[in-house]
Amino acid sequence: MLIGLLLAGCAGDQSILNPAGQAARDVVMIWWIMLGFGSVVLVLVTAFWLYTFKRKAVTRTPAEERKIARRWIVGGGIVLPVASITALLAFGVPTGQRLLPLPLEEPPEVIEVIGHQWWWEVRYPDAEGGEVVTANQLIMPAGEPVDFHVTGADVIHAFWVPRLGGKIDMIPGRMNKIRLEADEPAVFGAQCAEFCGAQHAQMQLYVEAVGRDEYEAWLAARQTSELTALAGNDQQHEPAREAFMTHCASCHRVAGLSSGKAGPDLSDLGSRTSLGAGIMAMEEGAVTHWLKHHQRLKPGNKMPSHDNIETATLESLGAWLETLAP
Ligand code: CUA
Repeated sequence: MLIGLLLAGCAGDQSILNPAGQAARDVVMIWWIMLGFGSVVLVLVTAFWLYTFKRKAVTRTPAEERKIARRWIVGGGIVLPVASITALLAFGVPTGQRLLPLPLEEPPEVIEVIGHQWWWEVRYPDAEGGEVVTANQLIMPAGEPVDFHVTGADVIHAFWVPRLGGKIDMIPGRMNKIRLEADEPAVFGAQCAEFCGAQHAQMQLYVEAVGRDEYEAWLAARQTSELTALAGNDQQHEPAREAFMTHCASCHRVAGLSSGKAGPDLSDLGSRTSLGAGIMAMEEGAVTHWLKHHQRLKPGNKMPSHDNIETATLESLGAWLETLAP
């Protein structure tokens, strides 16, 4: 009862007990059945155990003892486990089938997610007008199945949006697939679910399901031509762009300026909700703060410390990067 009461308080954007799609509902149903079944077993075992205190000693012949022992071994050790595991399988196998990305008449949207130490690369290979790339944010259409093709760039990570279902390993050299669907527009939390190094816990992903029209508008605003215009050629930000080309361009892409691949794509950085894969909220001055203190905020991340760059340069870089918001 206590467990039941405690679980009733489970909600929030990363709770599996608050499903927002069919795959997650299937998984949570199995979870409740297993909890119920496990609770019944716990009560039975406890009852038997308490019964042994109450039972009077009886004298039996060795043959009687053996007969009783055999009954318990066959009943409790073979019949009960076989029956209960068969029942769970009969329920679990069809549920597992429903989670597979089987062919559909209308092929679903494909979104590629690539795990890095410690951030997320998100790619939309089928976007109209050309592939769209972003990082640490995943916008998906609501009310329709979406196939996620996931892999790891360096070590094994795992893609997990608890309220939509999952999770699935992101293994270097291998493309794993999972089909998820969000019932309606909403924001979800996602988290790397496989230990991947010192900052594993700080590998969060912002997931937002939006209507079809909004989704297509979001993609269109991130076409290379649009992003190139966004990076600008005005006088005001020229020093920032120069500093970017000197210090950042070999690792980061900003459409129209650079094509670095080692770090997150920054072409639409200003439109994201957080920095450093969920380390801090995106607000005015946040990028500059991150550029100055990122090794303190997220120790061990792969971006070198910027101690050798002048504060004024970091500030102009931060101010310009924040303008990259389609
Ligand atoms: Cu990536 Cu844990």
